[in-house]
Amino acid sequence: MMTTSSIKPKGDISSVFSHLGGKGIGLDPSFLTLKQEIAPKDPAILNNAYQRLLTSFQKESVEIKEKGSSVIPQVSFADIQSNGGQFPPSIAEEIRKRGCVVIRNVVSREEAQGYKQQIKEYIGQHAKDLGGFPTNDPQVWEVYWSRSQVAARSHPNFNTATLALNKIWHAEENTVIDLEKNLGYCDRLRIRKAHDQSFALQEHIDSGSLERWLDPEYRKCYTEIFNGNWENHDSFDATHRVEARMDYYNSPGGCSVFRNFQGWLAMSDIKTGGGTLRVCPLLKQSTAYFLMKPLIEENLLKNDYIGALPGLCQGIGKTDYPEIVDTMVSMPDVGYGDAVFWHCDQVHAVEPKNDSDVDSSVLYIPSVPLCRINSEYLAIQRNAFERGLTPPDFPGNHYEETFEDRAQVNSMNAAEQLNMGITTYPPLSDDATTGQKKALDTHNKALGFA
Ligand SMILES: [Fe+2]
Repeated sequence: MMTTSSIKPKGDISSVFSHLGGKGIGLDPSFLTLKQEIAPKDPAILNNAYQRLLTSFQKESVEIKEKGSSVIPQVSFADIQSNGGQFPPSIAEEIRKRGCVVIRNVVSREEAQGYKQQIKEYIGQHAKDLGGFPTNDPQVWEVYWSRSQVAARSHPNFNTATLALNKIWHAEENTVIDLEKNLGYCDRLRIRKAHDQSFALQEHIDSGSLERWLDPEYRKCYTEIFNGNWENHDSFDATHRVEARMDYYNSPGGCSVFRNFQGWLAMSDIKTGGGTLRVCPLLKQSTAYFLMKPLIEENLLKNDYIGALPGLCQGIGKTDYPEIVDTMVSMPDVGYGDAVFWHCDQVHAVEPKNDSDVDSSVLYIPSVPLCRINSEYLAIQRNAFERGLTPPDFPGNHYEETFEDRAQVNSMNAAEQLNMGITTYPPLSDDATTGQKKALDTHNKALGFA
């Protein structure tokens, strides 16, 4: 079976970043026509909306500058557990505004230390056959199938945490999605050495760039923004996300699934300044900003989507988006076993330097609810896993194909097998929504269980 991954070029995490050398191609004239189709006929509508947006940034930035990292919502995993698997309402409200959250002690410190130890041994065992970024001294490894990664992705607490994140989203009764189930999405890992300055990611947004304007279904997620009513935009409405196409250019490292929150699990103590994640903690405003700016009157006749290029993630440069870059904050200090999640439209970056004496290490694991595109991806990913190939969204290096100590189907527990689509779910109860029933039906067909 031909997998998507088998036709992707080799590479590493730099492949989708223009500032790290990723190669985009220019825009053909159809993109200029597309602007006319999307922008309201009366330019005053977006001009006014844009001015209101700048005023909002000005107002909100006062609190962000004053509070810094403490504006990021923080909650202990135990509080989610004792609240029936949901975030306490005040935290949920903060996540909706800030777009991100730190969850403490998702796995125990000892478990996270154990994950790292096993991964270091795995990498050490195969160092000469593995690659990553940067090539001469990898900080982000092209490793997907270590036993620890497979275990962490389906850890029961991690599953509970991502299901709590799903509950912040909503869908129509007949939207084909099951927000009560999450699937495995197999990404790489970072062991960023003390004092490293090579793995610095500038401000960007993942899950495509031009696709947010180009794809008719993806565009519908942002109707209120394109109509100049950005204040009414709902970042947590899954209705049009489930069929949005985010990867028109099959880029190596571009995410093709509906990943409602990106995330990582800490495998070290990462202090603010120690090479951690940065975000713009104004989710709605920053989304409206980068989507509207190319369409306002002064930019409408330029064939430029300001930071969006085919096959690369959406870049957010300081010159074009000063208000966004000026409101970026770093994550607060986190420890082994804490997890950080940020919304799929959120502007984020990685601190330019690990200015600490310890490594800054994470497993990248997002929240990926069950819906058609995610189930179909899981089927291809499962095939890659069984053969030890790189997962289909990522550069086609296939380093682990011959590693006998990678995770194998026959040594996986039940949760791991379910997460990877080796097994499937029991039938739904009668009170499930029409959308949930259809989603499971589609899932079972995609994976060969029906
Ligand atoms: Fe990113």
